[in-house]
Amino acid sequence: MNAVENTESSNDTREEFAIAVVGTGVIGAAWVSGFLAAGHSVTAFDPAEGAEERLLEQVKSNLEVTTGVRDSQLDRLTFAPTIAEAVGSVDFVQENGPERLEVKQAMLAEIDTAAPEATIIASSTSGFAPSEISAEATKAPSRIIVGHPFNPAHLIPLVEVVPTPGASPALVDRALTIYRTIGKKPILVRAELPGHVVNRLQAALWQEAYSLVNEGVVSVSDIDTAISYGPGLRWAILGPLAQQALSGGIGGMRHVLDHLGPPQEVWMHDLKQVHLDEGLKGKLIAGVDDELVGRDSAAIARQRDEMLIRLLELKHRYEELP
Ligand SMILES: NC(=O)c1ccc[n+]([C@@H]2O[C@H](COP(=O)([O-])OP(=O)(O)OC[C@H]3O[C@@H](n4cnc5c(N)ncnc54)[C@H](O)[C@@H]3O)[C@@H](O)[C@H]2O)c1
Repeated sequence: MNAVENTESSNDTREEFAIAVVGTGVIGAAWVSGFLAAGHSVTAFDPAEGAEERLLEQVKSNLEVTTGVRDSQLDRLTFAPTIAEAVGSVDFVQENGPERLEVKQAMLAEIDTAAPEATIIASSTSGFAPSEISAEATKAPSRIIVGHPFNPAHLIPLVEVVPTPGASPALVDRALTIYRTIGKKPILVRAELPGHVVNRLQAALWQEAYSLVNEGVVSVSDIDTAISYGPGLRWAILGPLAQQALSGGIGGMRHVLDHLGPPQEVWMHDLKQVHLDEGLKGKLIAGVDDELVGRDSAAIARQRDEMLIRLLELKHRYEELP
């Protein structure tokens, strides 16, 4: 457990923040879209040739499906020529550079040097711990946290927030508040673990799915049918644990654990470890190719995004009910 256990509330009641987004590839562009849609101003930086034009195109495309594109949103976007100019006077930085430790460390050290001391610096890293990526920062490394989003990040509300053990509770609270202003659902992760929490949960499921395919128990497409037409539908509504409590009827979680806990433990202890060798990779690739044969992946992604928007609208509608 770390210092964030007794989370203090933030006194900052502003609704508009100055944001810097560093690295504007797939994930960075999604963050820019979300911050602009919520009325924040964004200064972006990415050193790649043509990055500014690509960002504008991607932001317009993202906003088209979320809020609709408005000039007032795009007017609040500036592209800076250096990291230092992007982060020099902002409240919050979201870093989205390549997932390589030495690159993250160098970028975050540069951001830490240039950003005012009160600025929160969040990294989208999929798996590095905040203490690892802040190792080269010298000015105020404890304000460097992980804010890990999920693809398609302009639509999926979840963000995992992982502070360093030394982060102040007020800073963590402020980061959660800023994410909520753009409609995100942040969760607080209280320990530094490889893959944070959600990629570990996904890895647990992938491990067993890969093992079952490897053993020839079930096809790749039947795994996808099983989750997307079975538990995945329930999980999208309630999550796996509240859903489990419902399975206990009036006895709730107590009954389900007493009743089905013992066989569940047998299944848990029978789960297999897998190694992603070429043989297994070949089976998974061939299985997905069979499943998606004749379908265009861009069209599948578009359809997924449309369904996600409808699902989220439905969830919001039910959450508003008394
Ligand atoms: N793609 C995903 O599904 C996903 C999901 C969650 C988190 N993430 C994380 O988000 C981060 C970005 O991933 P992505 O998929 O957007 O990658 P990407 O390759 O699309 O974008 C990375 C961007 O960083 C830029 N860049 C390289 N060096 C830079 C520097 N020194 N300063 C600023 N920008 C620099 C590149 O030009 C590129 O535009 C990674 O840490 C990744 O782990 C990715």
